Amino acid sequence: MLKSTELEDKELFGMESFKIMVDLSEGVFHDLKNILATISGLAQLSLIKDVDDDVKTNLINIVKATLSFKDALDRYYNFTQGYNEEEKKPYDIQSIILKTVDMVRFKLDILNSLGNEIQLNFLLNSYSRILCNEYELRQSLLNIIMNAIESMEDKSGTLSLKLYDLGNKVYIEIKDTGVGISPENMERLFKVEFTTKAKGTGLGLKIAKRSIEKNGGDIEVCSKLGEGTRFLISFPIYHENLMD
Ligand SMILES: Nc1ncnc2c1ncn2[C@@H]1O[C@H](COP(=O)(O)OP(=O)(O)OP(=O)(O)O)[C@@H](O)[C@H]1O
Ligand SMILES: [Mg+2]
Repeated sequence: MLKSTELEDKELFGMESFKIMVDLSEGVFHDLKNILATISGLAQLSLIKDVDDDVKTNLINIVKATLSFKDALDRYYNFTQGYNEEEKKPYDIQSIILKTVDMVRFKLDILNSLGNEIQLNFLLNSYSRILCNEYELRQSLLNIIMNAIESMEDKSGTLSLKLYDLGNKVYIEIKDTGVGISPENMERLFKVEFTTKAKGTGLGLKIAKRSIEKNGGDIEVCSKLGEGTRFLISFPIYHENLMD
């Protein structure tokens, strides 16, 4: 098992690589948008010409596809913003959850188009705000939600997301009906580099736990092999001090 300094080294290396990737991606996003604008522009120009109906339909579909590609690019770009901000601010947790779910929809669509049937259930009953670093929170939720989806990859199932207030805390529940975790693996779950996936780094959950705790939250997990897993995350609700 790795020691905590080794985890820090790995995280630092991860953060450095991520920073380089984000810096590079600024240019890539820009280039891709220019290419999309060219494709869309040429398709729109051709639409003015006298062309057959089926060619027209194809051209309209090309324009629509370039627009949704541009939307997706904007979403990815926005998601990477704020990664180097240290500051904590009050954020509406519901909107953070929705932004994160937006990032995984593509994965659900791909799995469902391959014959899986993975449903997404929402029960978002809180508008509470919490004091956090938004980027770290999005990243943590993304890691946990991705694991939940991956646990249902070879079978169909339901991913349920709940948000509710209880006392002075807001709770986020992320539940899947996936493969579940055995009691032996449960003990190793938050240990560095524990993975059961061929291409997994085994870092996703550890980074999520560390970020959640760093932002004043708690994370608990319970699971039953063959039935599914539930992560419960809680944060103190942020109350604005009106005297400030
Ligand atoms: N919702 C879940 N259902 C079943 N097993 C899970 C779930 N979440 C985590 N696990 C188990 O915990 C292991 C560690 O998860 P973690 O996110 O840290 O790494 P990973 O998913 O294996 O790799 P990476 O996050 O780099 O893709 C997983 O390999 C899996 O065995
Ligand atoms: Mg993972």
